Amino acid sequence: MPARINPSILAADFANFERELGRIQTADLVHVDVMDNHFVPNLTFGPATVERLQALSGIPLDIHLMIDDPDHWAPGYAELGAFSVTFHAEAARDAVSLARRLREIGSRAGIALKPGTAVEPFLELLPEFDQVLVMTVEPGFGGQSFIESVMPKLVALRAARGDLDLWLQVDGGITLDTIGIAAEAGADTFVAGSSVFSGDPEANIAALRAAAADHPH
Ligand code: DX5
Ligand code: ZN
Repeated sequence: MPARINPSILAADFANFERELGRIQTADLVHVDVMDNHFVPNLTFGPATVERLQALSGIPLDIHLMIDDPDHWAPGYAELGAFSVTFHAEAARDAVSLARRLREIGSRAGIALKPGTAVEPFLELLPEFDQVLVMTVEPGFGGQSFIESVMPKLVALRAARGDLDLWLQVDGGITLDTIGIAAEAGADTFVAGSSVFSGDPEANIAALRAAAADHPH
């Protein structure tokens, strides 16, 4: 399976999402960062905007919820038809029940770990999830530097995954210089904001995909 490249529209022009979606037609999924100014010190958009993105995008949406109380809010994003909904482990009251609910509604269910959150407690719960998002920056802002010290989490997840259809996603600071490091550690799904939207997005997507393929696990 070639690397999945999910451009983050956090780096797009917020006043022109329709045009920006047109620039990333070769993406695997469109990564949508929902921030509430509580879980992270930044604010983006909520369900009304995501509903429009869902209607406009021919490419499935990969929703990343950086919000408090995902137990309450996340199912609403699945109900909008999002292909994948990922919530933060640090914010969820009952991650397993929430993931089951998201799957029941029809989305893939993802769990995200901030750089300081250990992966070990989740290794025995992997069958409950369709994706684990290993944050490679502190969540909240685009354009930050890749934190290489979290790579052992991917190695552990890759070893524990077995035959599960579990995607291992990295998000933050993914560029042509860093994507190979994450691919070698075991990531198969790569979020990239600044490095996709600066210059020619489709050329950037192709280059990122090729760079990941050059560094197999
Ligand atoms: C950060 C977001 C990322 C962000 C990545 O909290 O979750 O998705 O857009 O941006 P880059 O690729 O610029 O680090
Ligand atoms: Zn994200």
